Amino acid sequence: MDCKKNNVLSPEEMDRQFEYIKRIKKENDIYARERGKRRRAFVMTFGCQQNEADSEKISGMAEAMGYELTAEPAGASLIVVNTCAIREHAEQKALSVIGQYKHIKSKDPETIIAVCGCMVTQEHRVNEIKHSYPYVDFVFGTSSIHRLPELIIQRTESRRRIYCPEEADYLVAEGIPIKRNDGVRAWVSVMYGCNNFCSYCIVPYVRGRERSRTREAVFSEVEELVKKGYKDITLLGQNVNSYGKDSGYDYDFADLLAMLDTIEGDYMLHFMTSHPKDATHKLIDTMAAGRHIAKHFHLPMQAGSDEVLRVMNRRYTFEKYIAILDYITEKMPGAVITSDIMVGFPGETEEDFEDTLRALERAQFDMIYSFIYSPRRGTPACNMENQISDAVKSERFNRLLETQNAISLAKNKPLEHKTVRVLCDGRSKNNPDVFSGRTEGNKIVFFDGDDSDTGKFLDIFIERGDTFALYGKKVK
Ligand code: SAH
Ligand code: SF4
Ligand code: F3S
Repeated sequence: MDCKKNNVLSPEEMDRQFEYIKRIKKENDIYARERGKRRRAFVMTFGCQQNEADSEKISGMAEAMGYELTAEPAGASLIVVNTCAIREHAEQKALSVIGQYKHIKSKDPETIIAVCGCMVTQEHRVNEIKHSYPYVDFVFGTSSIHRLPELIIQRTESRRRIYCPEEADYLVAEGIPIKRNDGVRAWVSVMYGCNNFCSYCIVPYVRGRERSRTREAVFSEVEELVKKGYKDITLLGQNVNSYGKDSGYDYDFADLLAMLDTIEGDYMLHFMTSHPKDATHKLIDTMAAGRHIAKHFHLPMQAGSDEVLRVMNRRYTFEKYIAILDYITEKMPGAVITSDIMVGFPGETEEDFEDTLRALERAQFDMIYSFIYSPRRGTPACNMENQISDAVKSERFNRLLETQNAISLAKNKPLEHKTVRVLCDGRSKNNPDVFSGRTEGNKIVFFDGDDSDTGKFLDIFIERGDTFALYGKKVK
């Protein structure tokens, strides 16, 4: 037995939920027979890929309960809003959407409106929903997703609003049905939670402690996805580099990757996110030797100043970070490296910020996700006195973008007149006349194509490399 610490939710608890699923399905089937149409469910998702993955479980359960999934909230019998708390803006967006559902409830009081996810895993937001959004039927946190069927039954039977407490022990729920949004790319969570407590970040408070799935559970999910024809599988965790440590497994993330790489088929494996403090040579060597492991590393640096990194509690220095980058490029020349960078962290001086700009020049990232620091209630950074003004934050943000945009352009230019392998996602959402796809390094490519290309790996001749995308033609 690999698992030294049993962190999996008991099968009896999952069976209990499946009983509720059956009961609701029976009821929904009767409704469909009588009315000639199915009750519909709408799931709205904010936040990161972890939340996307959770929403696919919510949709999977909704479908198993006999709801038909819909892309429109109007007319839905079940509405679930899966929220994010990473920045104030994310919370405000979710609250505004929840606000818009008031009229749906007043039109049809039978509509069930539920709010879940990171935002409502905070007590002050639960209270806000309780008092200011009286039409929300129930609220459940990130550890209680599997309890959705039970909550629907409780709500319909008791007519009382429910505020589902967080499960004390944050267990891994295996076996929840999943309704995937895409037929080509899939998310697979390998671990949940975070133990790192970076001083600005809400995630450890709303996602609980790290718990890893067993490699057997991950392997069988990935194997099934490859069999079904999925071409790009992204392994998810807040810090995949600490995979296995929480549960005392005698294998780590590199071992897991190597094991998954043995699955035969035409597919790519991506993973995110890696924390630099735990990125090992073993992991990089495993990637370099892999057959299916994309040579793409997303390694959030956050800042270039050691003092800022220290106060952020990131537990690495810029020098240590660069040493990892150098090892990646030594072992995998041409690997695509992307990062997360934050500006305006409390106490960030102009000099600190310039360290970040210099760090960008040194690191030469292909692309970054850039963030303006947003104080999160309950985190240490929120109470620091030396908060940066909005004006300075936005001025630094613009300079950050300017610096990185020039680097991204310089990284994309040399791809002109080269042929790259691209996984085709189908017609571009913004311009259905062109097709879009992504390279192994996740760069967006626009090209001519046809509908039969969707889900296929194609060779694209790049004609133009721009800051945010590549443009090319299919090699016939
Ligand atoms: N676990 C990942 C990050 C997940 S959150 C890691 O440690 O790398 C994604 C990004 O959101 C972070 O990398 C950080 O740059 C940003 N972020 C987190 N908290 C934030 C906050 N309070 N304000 C602004 N950006 C934040
Ligand atoms: Fe947040 Fe840090 Fe954990 Fe990432 S590693 S989720 S930034 S606390
Ligand atoms: Fe993700 Fe937002 Fe939660 S980034 S982990 S959904 S706070």
